[in-house]
Amino acid sequence: MSQEREILSLIPHGLYLVGVRAESGTFLYTASWLTQASFDPCLIVTAVRRTHEGHDLIREARAFTVNLLPKGQLDLARVGFANPEDRLFQVRWKECPHTGAPVVLDSLAYLGCRLVRWIDGGDHDLAVAEVVGSERFAEGELLTIQDTPWTYS
Ligand SMILES: Cc1cc2nc3c(=O)[nH]c(=O)nc-3n(C[C@H](O)[C@H](O)[C@H](O)COP(=O)(O)O)c2cc1C
Repeated sequence: MSQEREILSLIPHGLYLVGVRAESGTFLYTASWLTQASFDPCLIVTAVRRTHEGHDLIREARAFTVNLLPKGQLDLARVGFANPEDRLFQVRWKECPHTGAPVVLDSLAYLGCRLVRWIDGGDHDLAVAEVVGSERFAEGELLTIQDTPWTYS
C-alpha cells in the first residue's frame, strides 16, 4: 500500500447501505465515503463509484437512501457488495416515503436524500444531496470500516 493510501486508511469511515430506485432498476450497495457537508440546508456528500449500477441509477432517480449499519452487522454490510442480482431479497426493506428508494429496516436509522448536485471526479463521482427525511430504528453505534477486516482506501 502506498504511503498516501496508508494515511488515508487512518481516516475513520462509517459503513452504510445506499439504496436507489429508478425506472430502470433498483440497487443497494455498501458505501463508506460519506460525510455531512452543510447544516442548513442539511447536505451530505458521498463518493459514487463509476463502475456499479448505483452510479447511473442515482443520477436517473435524483434520490437515494443512506442506511446506517449497526456495529457488529458485518453480514448486512456484506450484502451490499456481494451477489449483485439478489441484494434486496436478502434484507427486510420498505420504500422511503419521500423518494421511494429502499429503506433497510435492520439498519440503525436511515436518511432519505435528494440529489442537488453531481460532481464528476475520478473513478468515483460526488453526489451532493439534501436530507429530506429520516427514521431511527434502533439504539446503538455505527459500524465503521475499522471494525471490519476490509479496506476501502
Ligand atoms: C468496505 C467497502 C466500502 C465501499 N465504499 C464505497 C463507496 O463509498 N462508494 C461506492 O460507490 N462504492 C463503495 N464500495 C463498492 C461498492 O459497494 C460496490 O462497487 C458495489 O456494491 C457494486 O458491486 P460490484 O462492484 O461488484 O458490482 C465499497 C465496497 C466496500 C467493500
